[in-house]
Amino acid sequence: MIVIKDKKKILILNGPNLNLLGLRETSIYGNSTLDDLQGLIQKHFLSQLDIHFDFFQSNHEGELIDKIHHVRDYAGIVINAGAYTHTSIALRDALAGVNIPFVEVHISNVYAREAFRHHSYLSSLAKAVICGAGFQGYIFAIQLLLS
Ligand code: DQA
Repeated sequence: MIVIKDKKKILILNGPNLNLLGLRETSIYGNSTLDDLQGLIQKHFLSQLDIHFDFFQSNHEGELIDKIHHVRDYAGIVINAGAYTHTSIALRDALAGVNIPFVEVHISNVYAREAFRHHSYLSSLAKAVICGAGFQGYIFAIQLLLS
């Protein structure tokens, strides 16, 4: 029997268009899919039986906010908010409201891209920001939340 209650719960939250990983702008985001990302994370932390990963992706700002509100007992959040990073005060307020440590992740190096990607509404609240490390960035983020 798996008792999730006693495990450290970590939310891996992906925002808009990240369901298209593997198809979308592959020169920037690579050929691997969101399922591949989930598999990579599960495989990497396979031996750590005390962790429960909750994977959630949505293209809708409100659904991302609702999800954040529902994980108030979690140990941490890894969030790639996609383009909402650069636009959403509401997402920032949700993260501030639940007061759970979170790491902001971007697959690409947003600072090497268009100027509108250089600003994040989330970064100043984040424990850390990791960008440009590809899928590995999610692994680093989880390690940091567990440390
Ligand atoms: C992204 C970078 C964002 O600017 C962009 O809107 C995304 C993906 C990344 O993972 O590199 O959707 O968050």
